[in-house]
Amino acid sequence: MSDLKVLISRDRIAKRVAELGAAITHDYAGEPVILIGVLKGATIFLADLARHISLDATFDFISVSSYGNEKMHSGEVKLNKDVDNSMEGRNVILVEDILDTGLTLRYITGLLAAHKPKSLKIAALLDKISRRQVPIKGDYVGFEIPDEFVVGYGLDYAERYRNLPDVCVVS
Ligand code: IMP
Ligand code: MG
Repeated sequence: MSDLKVLISRDRIAKRVAELGAAITHDYAGEPVILIGVLKGATIFLADLARHISLDATFDFISVSSYGNEKMHSGEVKLNKDVDNSMEGRNVILVEDILDTGLTLRYITGLLAAHKPKSLKIAALLDKISRRQVPIKGDYVGFEIPDEFVVGYGLDYAERYRNLPDVCVVS
């Protein structure tokens, strides 16, 4: 068992996720939105965020994997599961657990832009800005964090720890 230290507590997460949901509700002003979760890390964030969005909202999911290991991104991204529906003319909000190098979201936004959505925004619980390799910015970001490997609240290390209620640093 690795040593885990709480970086962001469940209480802080809950408060911030509610704020993000309120901001989204405000910004889309009654228009329908589709939340696209990036499997599997975004599932818990999406579930909580969606319940703070007071709009006509639907869900879809996409799955990609990046080559390389957990901590080193090779830059290549592979599509495992595409969205089920066309995003043409829709307000798409991509929901991701963490923005790191930005390579994953650059790939996914490129893929979805081809659908010609009405709008395309990014909601990310966490952002490691110092790690960015491509110019991708989150529109709704929960917390900026230092360059440390974190788990919990959906984030994994070798598929484990996703069920931890707090975001923790693994040492
Ligand atoms: P990016 O393509 O480098 O931005 O990587 C994004 C993906 O890398 C995320 O969806 C996570 O699955 C994974 N990732 C990046 N940093 C961490 C971390 O600190 N903990 C767990 N997963 C991470
Ligand atoms: Mg992962």
